[in-house]
Amino acid sequence: MKIIRCKNYEEASKVAGNLISEAIQAKPDIVLGLATGSSPIGTYQKLIQDYEDKKITFEQVKTYNLDEYVGIGRDCPQSYYYFMNDNLFNHVDIKKENIHIPYANPEQLEESCKHYSEELDKTVVDIQLLGIGANGHIGFNEPKTSFEQKTFIVNLTEKTREDNKRFFNSIDEVPTKAITMGIAEIMKAKKIILIATGKNKAEAVKRLLSKEVTTDFPASALHLHDDVVVVTDDEALSLVNC
Ligand code: GLP
Repeated sequence: MKIIRCKNYEEASKVAGNLISEAIQAKPDIVLGLATGSSPIGTYQKLIQDYEDKKITFEQVKTYNLDEYVGIGRDCPQSYYYFMNDNLFNHVDIKKENIHIPYANPEQLEESCKHYSEELDKTVVDIQLLGIGANGHIGFNEPKTSFEQKTFIVNLTEKTREDNKRFFNSIDEVPTKAITMGIAEIMKAKKIILIATGKNKAEAVKRLLSKEVTTDFPASALHLHDDVVVVTDDEALSLVNC
């Protein structure tokens, strides 16, 4: 696991954005695994900037998103579908048919998981971008999820709902379930870039860097992968002696 220490979120976003930009330049038909949340927004802004500066094109890029809430429509601003269009896809030349975002049809939850899993079985993700939840979740793989898990419907923990409440009017509006890529599928990516910045990620970063591998802390599975880059900052590293 390689650690890149940045001064702050802005620098971390530039670093992560550059890593992805350079990878797109080297392989224009790259397959990207994408994440939502506050952590990757700056990275997406850097990619949009590089697209506008004509350094990269998304013409042949394919994307697979990690997760989506169950029970809110795609037109809802809190949905990850809406988030991805708003923060990246609407601003670059990606083809609609190359975008893959899990969609948990409330009538057919099992079929939705099976369908996404089958798509991922056929795909090799070149770079998977990740954030990290305060309880160590990646995608929406909450503590105690098996490292063998494939795409599934997860019951969100109260901690995760509480942390994500800031995007909703109240806690009652935060969905209780989500569909997420499983840890086994995340780990299949050739390279993983995890962004963790700010004081509220300090405990999670400390635990990640303790190197203990346990399902109690899903991100610890990343120690079993041979190409992981953690892009972090001074605040997130404030509890780590280094
Ligand atoms: C959500 C997403 C995760 C993300 C996490 C942290 O739960 N499902 O993929 O990593 O939030 O989000 P943030 O970057 O906003 O702290």
